[in-house]
Amino acid sequence: MVSRVIPVDPFDLVIFGATGDLARRKILPGLYRRFWAGQMPEGSRIIGAARTEQDADAWRASIRAAIEEFVAKSKHEAEVIDRFLACLDYVAIDVRGDGGWETLRDMMRQEVTQAFYFSVGPGLFGDLAERLHRYKIACETCRIVVEKPFGRDLDSAKALNATLAAHFDEQQIYRIDHYLGKETVQNLMAVRFANVLFEPLWNSQFIDHVQITVAEEVGVGGRGGYYDKSGAMRDMVQNHLMQLLCLTAMEPPSRFEPDAVRDEKLKVIRALDPLETHDIVRGQYRAGAEPSYLDDVEDPDSRTESFIALKVHVANWRWNGTPFYLRTGKRMKARTSEIVVQFKEPPHSIFEEDTGQRANMLSIRLQPDEGMDLRVTIKEPGPGGMRLVDVPLDMSFADALGPEAADVPDAYERLIMDVIRGNQTLFMRGDEVEAAWAWTDPVVAGWVDRGDRPMPYEPGSAGPEDALILLHRDGRRWREIG
Ligand code: BG6
Repeated sequence: MVSRVIPVDPFDLVIFGATGDLARRKILPGLYRRFWAGQMPEGSRIIGAARTEQDADAWRASIRAAIEEFVAKSKHEAEVIDRFLACLDYVAIDVRGDGGWETLRDMMRQEVTQAFYFSVGPGLFGDLAERLHRYKIACETCRIVVEKPFGRDLDSAKALNATLAAHFDEQQIYRIDHYLGKETVQNLMAVRFANVLFEPLWNSQFIDHVQITVAEEVGVGGRGGYYDKSGAMRDMVQNHLMQLLCLTAMEPPSRFEPDAVRDEKLKVIRALDPLETHDIVRGQYRAGAEPSYLDDVEDPDSRTESFIALKVHVANWRWNGTPFYLRTGKRMKARTSEIVVQFKEPPHSIFEEDTGQRANMLSIRLQPDEGMDLRVTIKEPGPGGMRLVDVPLDMSFADALGPEAADVPDAYERLIMDVIRGNQTLFMRGDEVEAAWAWTDPVVAGWVDRGDRPMPYEPGSAGPEDALILLHRDGRRWREIG
């Protein structure tokens, strides 16, 4: 099955921070893949802007190298790469300075969609927004794209929202959470709202609990400086895991439209009970032959968590009594992200006690091998009487839809195309981000007040022992990682 590619209208996209890591690894390779697939029209332009004094050819050469490094070989076609690079231009701009802005203004076309990607630290958002206006570069319908972290607490997020609101309407602001661009995350909405099968069962009467796991094998590596001031709660839970929780728990929106979806997500965040201390487990990878967290950061006494597990309650009619267990960590035994919906056992069993009957389980795999797995109970074949057995109805998208389906667009390329199309459904609204910080802040403040220390865990493990106990004490178990 070949997926349909609908070209977007030609655009001018300016990337501030064009020589940075995100631009090299994700944004430009992603745009190239869309160009290769025929979605980005040739009349479009990508203008790199950064402090480095260089000409367009030098930037094109570095992007050629980035494509060779980060795009699959099967898409390396010299002639296509040349045509893509011909869409690139460059202007040297120091965001806090005054040089280069007039050149940029002269480069911009008024008749096409304009977008500005702020791939710079949030400390520069204000200067950037102000200069785009002062130099009359941004037109009234332009779009701006901002990266996470969107603040580090409620106050800083409010300040950022106010800074952007001084120059742009909310409809112009695209706050990226790249988890929303992942194929399976959108499939979660399709599964829930395009099938009659699940929705009647999607509540505390039939669902025992939900597990959301985002486990990474990598450590904090070269990002220790940023990460140590952030930790798993701010870096992953406040945004990515929160979004997965919202999409799993939200009420059906009336339409698949930006504000209809975002209104429902916001209601979930606002329905979250404050976290209790005994429902939180923090960890830090230590010991073993591998470098420990403390080798990866500057502070030898760092109390920042590289792992967190939480028991979360969504206090509304649908979910009363069904906990959501969330966990995420670095240097864990495998790279696995999944949402597991554990259904309850049938209310009454007509079969013998010892037949091994189990409850249904739906797991939605974000990575690797995106797909879904529904476990159902059937009769074990053979003459041995009515013995029940638990089997998977396992579907990998690649197996079910053909090899092209495995070649799903990376989250960034999908999201950038949505910016050009003017579709905000997969972007966070300002009030959503603030509500998520309002829930996160007291938890982090509590750790600081108490001088809380994360529990050590072995690199390559499933996190600290206490994370297992968090579920054991409720008579439940985490799914194996990997
Ligand atoms: C980022 C976090 O937002 O997401 C990183 O800052 C994390 O710490 C990354 O490694 C995980 O993204 P993915 O797409 O690799 O699961």
